Amino acid sequence: MRQSSLVVVANRLPLDDSAAPDGACEWRRSPGGLAGALHAILQQTPATWVGWDGTVGEARTLPDVGTLRLRPVALDEDETRGYYEGFANSTLWPLYHDAVEPPVFDRGWWETYRAVNRRFAEAAAEVAEPGATVWVQDYHLQLVPQLLRKLRPDLLIGFFLHVPFPPPELFMQLPRRVELLRGMLGADLVGFQRPQAAHNVAQLASKLLGAEGADDAIALEDRVVRTGAFPVSIDVAEMRSLSARPYVINQAKKLRHDLGSPKKVLLSVDRLDYTKGIEHRLTAYSELLRDGRVKVRDTVMVQVAVPSRERVETYRGLRDRIEREVGRINGEYGRVGEPAIHYLNQPFDRADLAALYQTADVMVVTPLRDGMNLVAKEFVAARRDDSGALVLSEFAGAAAELEDAFQVNPHDVDGLKETLLHAMSAAPADLARRMAAMRHYLTVHDIHAWAQDYLTTLSFSSQSRTASIGSGSSIRSWPSPGKSNGAAP
Ligand code: ADP
Ligand code: F6P
Repeated sequence: MRQSSLVVVANRLPLDDSAAPDGACEWRRSPGGLAGALHAILQQTPATWVGWDGTVGEARTLPDVGTLRLRPVALDEDETRGYYEGFANSTLWPLYHDAVEPPVFDRGWWETYRAVNRRFAEAAAEVAEPGATVWVQDYHLQLVPQLLRKLRPDLLIGFFLHVPFPPPELFMQLPRRVELLRGMLGADLVGFQRPQAAHNVAQLASKLLGAEGADDAIALEDRVVRTGAFPVSIDVAEMRSLSARPYVINQAKKLRHDLGSPKKVLLSVDRLDYTKGIEHRLTAYSELLRDGRVKVRDTVMVQVAVPSRERVETYRGLRDRIEREVGRINGEYGRVGEPAIHYLNQPFDRADLAALYQTADVMVVTPLRDGMNLVAKEFVAARRDDSGALVLSEFAGAAAELEDAFQVNPHDVDGLKETLLHAMSAAPADLARRMAAMRHYLTVHDIHAWAQDYLTTLSFSSQSRTASIGSGSSIRSWPSPGKSNGAAP
């Protein structure tokens, strides 16, 4: 088995489901923030990615993708149900997103989650060369850091949570809260999107483990774990160069024409997930139409909602409700050849997404809770000038960085309606000032800055691994994570 000095461990491999007939593989730019973010930094770095290829049954043999080796982990039907659809996406996912859907606690799922996490840890241990850095990603694999440390104490282990970490009172609901916390704290550095998450973990570590916890480090019995905020970003340069392609520019012009220029175009792009606030925004738009404050002759909405986790009941129910509501709105307010909403339940390639972003007058991003929301950042990066408005939920991690967006509380439907109208009618000078500030921010805070910040802090963590609070090497004296990327407190 070939080994690497950098190993990424994530639930999904970044591989296209349909490998080409000649056996060639392409990056799977799956609809989801994690693969997109890591794609940008790993395509030119020698590394191994340990993950699942998204199919049920035996793992396929996968060729290298550029300098990246792929080490598949197979999941059978029971594991897919218990680990991926069950514990990861029906227990942790809703609980970590403010329980906007009730989390399901099923004792059988836990055993499967633990067994699958062990297999991921074993696979990582196998492909990591002595002293390698292993970077574990997200809530699916929260036990891997501790399991891996037992197997390979020589490794430098990082963990990054792409989703929010909940407040202690919600985390405390988890029947296996101690194991989950200890699992994650097996890492040398635990990174989050927002500083509040590190604060929550410090409080839980004191309460549940009797550890001494601060917002930048937690002292366990035998080691110190570094923690901090590292807001993830996108490959801004890639999105800009995509947006400058003649195909994208022409496609954006065609879309504008097809949508009925000079109408105002409202755009939303989401995985079809109950955390994204799709129903709240449909209610706001529908009420604006009902009240006559918006008319289909001068406004149109485009809702891209790519299918996601379709075997999970809550996702199927959400899709049914959204499709019914879109049908109702079009039935009540649309005209022949002029729907109020274009609804697209399908994946798009990157160029077509870029064209959509360029077409929009107002990008509407209204999650009820979101770790970051990379769609908001992609919209800003895809603009070729300082036009366009971003309406952004306060409950997306991105809101702490994109302060010049039209920020909104999506639970407040009246406030959402007013904000949509405000964004649609804002003066070009106001829009230009906001967009220029957001574009400038992203230029500096791109995915490369994120990876560098995280990996540099991780390397410092190895030097401070055995330091403890009050031992002379105070946990507070280490370099502050997130400092170089300007994370908000
Ligand atoms: P999440 O990680 O919860 O899905 P993000 O907004 O952070 O949310 O990331 C979503 C990613 O999925 C973005 O990179 C976006 O471009 C991509 N995406 C969303 N919808 C589609 C689609 N219909 N086709 C392809 N990619 C999509
Ligand atoms: O960003 C959160 C996340 O769960 C990622 O870990 C994942 O890649 C993405 O959403 C898409 O979800 P899934 O892998 O379940 O399709």
